[in-house]
Amino acid sequence: MSDISSIKDKAKKMWSTFAAFETVTALAAPELIKFAGVHRGDRLLDVGCGTGVVALTAAQVGAKVSGSDLTPELIMRAKENAQISNLNIDFQIADVEDLPYKDNEFDFVLSQFGHMFAPRPEIALKEMLRVLKPGGVIAFSTWPPELLTGRLFILTGKYGPSAPKDISPPVMWGEVEVIKKRLGRNVRDITFHRAEYGNPALSPAHMRVALEAYIGPIGATIKLLEPNPEKLTEFRNAMEDLLFEYFQNNTVVQSYLMTRAIKN
Ligand SMILES: C[S@@+](CC[C@H](N)C(=O)[O-])C[C@H]1O[C@@H](n2cnc3c(N)ncnc32)[C@H](O)[C@@H]1O
Repeated sequence: MSDISSIKDKAKKMWSTFAAFETVTALAAPELIKFAGVHRGDRLLDVGCGTGVVALTAAQVGAKVSGSDLTPELIMRAKENAQISNLNIDFQIADVEDLPYKDNEFDFVLSQFGHMFAPRPEIALKEMLRVLKPGGVIAFSTWPPELLTGRLFILTGKYGPSAPKDISPPVMWGEVEVIKKRLGRNVRDITFHRAEYGNPALSPAHMRVALEAYIGPIGATIKLLEPNPEKLTEFRNAMEDLLFEYFQNNTVVQSYLMTRAIKN
C-alpha cells in the first residue's frame, strides 16, 4: 500500500485553496439535504465538509450539525461561515478514515464531493457507517467519470503527477455498480439521483483560469507542466475544449450523482 500519510499531507495542501468555490458547491448543498430527507432536530454529520456548505445548509433547516474535514484552512473558513450565519455548528479537523465521533451518534451522515477523495474507500465508508445510527441515512454527492468534473479529473490525471497505482480513483465513487458493491449488505434501500448546478463563467477560458487557481489537483498539474510549454498548452487547450461542451449562457453546467441508503 502507498504511503497513506504522505498522500494525506499532499491532499491537505491541494485542497487548501478550495474556499473560492464555496459559492458554487453551495448550490448543490440544498439538493443533498432534500434528497437525504433532513428535518429540524436531526443529528447530522457532514464529512469532507470543506468550508461547510452542506453543514450550514442543514443547520438552516434546524438540524443539529457537526462537520469535519482534513484541511485546516477550510475548517477555519467553515467556522467563520458559521459565525457569519450565526449558526451553532461543531466543526473539527478530521480525516474521514478516522472520525472523532462515537458509534451510532448521527441520524444522517452526508458528504458532498468529500469522502470520494479519501484514498481508502472501504475505510472511509466503514467510518461513516460506524458513526451512523442503525436506521439512519447515509447520503453523498459524487462526480461520475463520464460527466464534466469526472472527465476533468481523468484529463488532469493524464497530464499530472502520477497517482499511486493501488489507490482507487475518486471518480469510482460516481459509478452506480461500484457504489452498490461498496455499500453491500451494510445498508438497504439504495437510491440514486442525478442533479446539476451551474458555475457562472464569462467563457470556458475564464473557468479554466479559476480551476487552475483554486482546484488543487489542477493547480499541481499546471506547476508540473510549466517547464514543458508545449504540453502545458496542450493540457490547457484540452481543458477548454472539454469546458466548452458544458458551456451555455455564461454558465458551465455540472451534473453529478447523489446516492442515499439506510443503515441496517
Ligand atoms: C471538492 S472539496 C468539497 C468540499 C465541500 N464538501 C463542498 O461541497 O464544498 C473536497 C473536500 O474533501 C476533503 N478531503 C479530502 N480528503 C479527505 C479525507 N481523507 N478526509 C476528510 N476530508 C477530505 C478536502 O479537504 C476538501 O475539503
